[in-house]
Amino acid sequence: MPEVQQTCIMVKPDGVRRGLIGEVIRRIEHRGYRIREMKLFTVDPELAREHYAEHSEKPFFGELVSFITSGPVVAMMVEGDDAVAGMRQIMGATDPRDAAPGSIRGDLATLITENIVHGSDSVESAERELKLFFG
Ligand code: RTP
Ligand code: MG
Repeated sequence: MPEVQQTCIMVKPDGVRRGLIGEVIRRIEHRGYRIREMKLFTVDPELAREHYAEHSEKPFFGELVSFITSGPVVAMMVEGDDAVAGMRQIMGATDPRDAAPGSIRGDLATLITENIVHGSDSVESAERELKLFFG
């Protein structure tokens, strides 16, 4: 049985710089999900480190934090049937080179470091991230 879920989606700084906020929102809404909260703001380094805490030991962590704080993002609470996995599906694989055509990353990006969009990877991550961004 499908379950109504909330997930945390972010148009990353590259997506905002490239004028793709509307394109990402269009794909979310056309899939049938609803945007329950949304804000445009610049993530500060402390929030970035907390958001990506699972990657703190990775070699690319510093680069990830400086990228995600490099300009405004649009954070959203997206709701719908099985929205956590469903959003990961329409986002496509982390590396755009592996992302299916038709997915956001497969259609709009070429680099793993600038892959347009973030989406929670589980219901637990979604709860944690939504608390970070929307309280
Ligand atoms: P996200 O958290 O941003 O939605 O991406 P994801 O779940 O698909 O991928 P994740 O493994 O959580 O990685 C977070 C972000 O780190 C960057 N990354 N860079 N240089 C590298 O090898 C590398 N690996 C990952 C990507 O931008 C990825 O979205
Ligand atoms: Mg992730």
